[in-house]
Formats: sequence, structure tokens, C-alpha cells
Amino acid sequence: MVNDVKGTLTVEKEQNTQYDAILREQKALIAEKRKRRKRKKQLVNMITICLILLFACIWVIAFISTKDKGVSSEGGGENFGNTIIPDDVLEINELSPYRDIPYYKEENEERYNAYAEINPQMTKEDVVWRVNAHQDKDKYEYDVEVSGYDDPTIIVNKYYKVPEGYKPPDLQQFDGQYLRKDTGEAYKKMRDDARREGYRIRVVSGYRTVEYQKNLYNRYLATDTKENVDRYSARPGYSEHHTGMAMDIFGSRDGLREFEATPEYEWVKNNCYKYGFIIRYLKETEDITGYEAEPWHLRYVGVEVSTDMKEKGINSFEEYHAKYLE
Ligand code: DAL
Ligand code: ZN
Repeated sequence: MVNDVKGTLTVEKEQNTQYDAILREQKALIAEKRKRRKRKKQLVNMITICLILLFACIWVIAFISTKDKGVSSEGGGENFGNTIIPDDVLEINELSPYRDIPYYKEENEERYNAYAEINPQMTKEDVVWRVNAHQDKDKYEYDVEVSGYDDPTIIVNKYYKVPEGYKPPDLQQFDGQYLRKDTGEAYKKMRDDARREGYRIRVVSGYRTVEYQKNLYNRYLATDTKENVDRYSARPGYSEHHTGMAMDIFGSRDGLREFEATPEYEWVKNNCYKYGFIIRYLKETEDITGYEAEPWHLRYVGVEVSTDMKEKGINSFEEYHAKYLE
């Protein structure tokens, strides 16, 4: 009997121990499940937050770039300041290989393309300034009328013509020739400095009226072909001498064509920029100016420009004008 009771108690104890183990196991399983569910929830939350942040960033970037470009709410163009540029123009701009060149002019786009096509070796920069200087047009057929007198950077050439009665004010005599006051005074300083260093120069041709140039040009035509004359004499209205800021000079030998062989030429070539002068027609710039070299023909452009041209290594006033003065 006692044994029976003992046996029953032992069985019950064992059963209790098993039950406890199962209970612990189940509790552990439930705790694990809860943990996993919690982690899952955290992960989902994190992903949601990340997605929200991502969309917010995309929206902010899109908003800023739309504002920068000034996209018009009506469409059809972009708003630059107060100017709405139509889509077709924008399209040309965006495609244009010239648009990054500083003196690029949108209205010349087609001319750049046409000029580049017939000058395939030319750099884009050269295409742009040359077209801006009208070099793509026939000489004497694209007249831009020169107006105003007081700017020493007025350009007169085969594209820029002065009107018939053009007469600059404040002409004064220097070496018996008329020059604008500033030009003449700069010349006088240069001449006197040259003399101090043992070089003698003098002006032999300064200001010319359009009428005077007409007679001169016609005189040349009497003995030479037009094609030849156009290479050394300006047609009336197209001469820089009309401005009173250009002059022809002699050195220690008489004769314009002799000037290049004189020591005075070397001195003038090296020093004239200090007084605001440039030698206007060089061998290297014949295709730009349309004139053969004239070492004796100086043009007053002011010290700032003459110095800047020298520093930049620009040898034609056409190039400098198109790039920096227009
Ligand atoms: N000889 C220069 C080009 C002139 O006639 O103005
Ligand atoms: Zn001259």
C-alpha cells in the first residue's frame, strides 16, 4: 500500500516536472515570437520613414531646380528675369556648340553655323567673334553707320562706315596735320619721347574728309585695278582717317613704304602702345582688315585698350572690338 502511494507520488512528481518543462518551452516560444514581431514592426517603421524622407528629398530637389530654371507655369518657355524665351529658341541654345563662348550672340546662331561650314578648320571662338565682326558678310555690303565721335574705340573699317558729312570736333594741328586733341597730344608725347631717345618721327597724314578720300581713291583707280586699290586704300567713308584718330608717319627716311626699314619703326612698334596707339594693319591680319600691312598707319585707341590688346596678344582691332567693346 505504502509502495503504491509512493509510486503514485513519484509519477505525479515526474508529470509535474514534464509539465513545467513544457510550460517553460511554450513561454520561451511565445517570447521569441513577440520579439520577432516587434523587430518586424520596427523594420517596417524604418522602411516607411526612409521612403518618406526619400520622397521628401526628391520633391525638394525638383522644386528648387524648377525655381532656378524659372519654368513658366503656362509652359511654352523659360522665364529669365522678365524675358520669356520660347521653347524653339531654347532648343537651339541648348544644342548650340557656341553658347558657352562669352561673346556669343543668340541672334547670330545661324550665321555661326554657316560660317563654320565654310571654315571647317576655324575654332568656335574665332567663328563667333568673326561673325560678330561681320566677317561672314561681303566687305562694303554690310554697312553699319558709325555714330558719335568721342569714343577713342570707335571702329571704322569695311563694315563700319562714317556718313558723308562726318567731321569730328576738336581737330588741332600737329606737324601740320589735323588730329583729334587727345590723339594729337598722345602723339606729341610719343614723338618727343622718341626724339629724346634719338628717333625722329612725324605725321604726314592725319584727319581726312570723306571728299578727300573720294579723290584719293579715284586717283589710285586711274592707274590700278579696283581689286588692288581696295587692298591699300579705303573707299570714301570707310577710312579710319575720317575719325581724326588715325595717322600715317614717316621715320628718318621719307616715304611710307620706307618706314618699316627705319630704326624708328622698331621703336614705334615696341613703344606706341604706351601712348595709346596700335599699328592697325599687319601682315597677319590682312584677311580680317582687308588691307595689306601698313606699318606706318597708327590708330589711337587709348592707353587702356592698346595695353590690353598687347597683354592679350590680340593683333587686330576688329577682334578686340568684337570681343571686348561691343
Ligand atoms: N590706307 C588706309 C587703309 C586708308 O586709306 O584709310
Ligand atoms: Zn593711313
